[in-house]
Amino acid sequence: MRIAVLNGPNLNLLGTREPELYGTTTLAEIEARVATVASELGVTAVFGQFNHEGDLIDAIHALGGRPAAPGVAPQFRDRADAALINAGAWTHTSLALRDALTGVSLPFVEVHLSNIYTREPERRHSVLVSAARGLVCGLGATGYELALTGIVAQLRAKRA
Ligand code: DQA
Repeated sequence: MRIAVLNGPNLNLLGTREPELYGTTTLAEIEARVATVASELGVTAVFGQFNHEGDLIDAIHALGGRPAAPGVAPQFRDRADAALINAGAWTHTSLALRDALTGVSLPFVEVHLSNIYTREPERRHSVLVSAARGLVCGLGATGYELALTGIVAQLRAKRA
């Protein structure tokens, strides 16, 4: 089983970005922790962070089994069974991102470090969540590990 872990804009800044909101764990540290959980679960995790929306959409298309556009990184060129996605600010705005995920039927779990429902009004709405298998928010870096464990259990239960 292959799971893609996709992070959106500004999440490359984790560790130093607004640590009172997002903590001091870097994205590389989060990915290392998720990779450890993936190997304990016996699944393959592939990782990417995107500051350009079209690049993320191209990666989602390829992960959903469509022909890869030029420039799509090698780890996204094989189909994935599901994705964990922290879309950052695109969460609140990007119907194009939701359309990409639903357009290739890629099951996904929405992840946020902070609890977006207790933040500024403009962050209290997700345009993605209606298409998500689940949502983990407010649990910091641990949320990615929980989301991985949850989606793998769900996919395995459906296959059994
Ligand atoms: C975030 C929440 C978003 O509102 C924000 O734009 C981010 C990070 C989170 O992980 O809490 O970039 O997705």
